[in-house]
Amino acid sequence: VKITYIQFNNTSKQVDVKSGQSVMEGAIRNNVPGIDADCGGACICATCHVFVDPHWMDRLEAPSQAEAGLLDFVEGVANNSRLACQIKVTDRLDGLVVRLPETQG
Ligand code: FES
Repeated sequence: VKITYIQFNNTSKQVDVKSGQSVMEGAIRNNVPGIDADCGGACICATCHVFVDPHWMDRLEAPSQAEAGLLDFVEGVANNSRLACQIKVTDRLDGLVVRLPETQG
C-alpha cells in the first residue's frame, strides 16, 4: 500500500507499507522523519500527529474516543488531524497522503 508522507518543509517520501501496519509504523520502518512515536503506538504520546489529506478523510475510520481525547491536547490540531499510530493501513488506503506538523520536524 503506497503512502506518501510530506514533511513540514514540503519534501515528500512515498513508501510501501504492509496492510495491517499503522501509518506510524510505516514511517518508522521506512525511516521517514517527522513521526517520533515516543509511546510506540499506545495512543498516549501524540508525537505521531499527522494531517490527513482532506481527500482521504472520509475513507478513514473515525477516531476512537482515546484518540480524539488525546488530540484535544495537541497543539496546532486541525479538523484533519489524526494520530498516525491509530490509522490502520488497508488496501483501501492505497495512495494515502499525510502531512507532518512543524513540531515533529
Ligand atoms: Fe504515541 Fe501514536 S505513537 S500516540
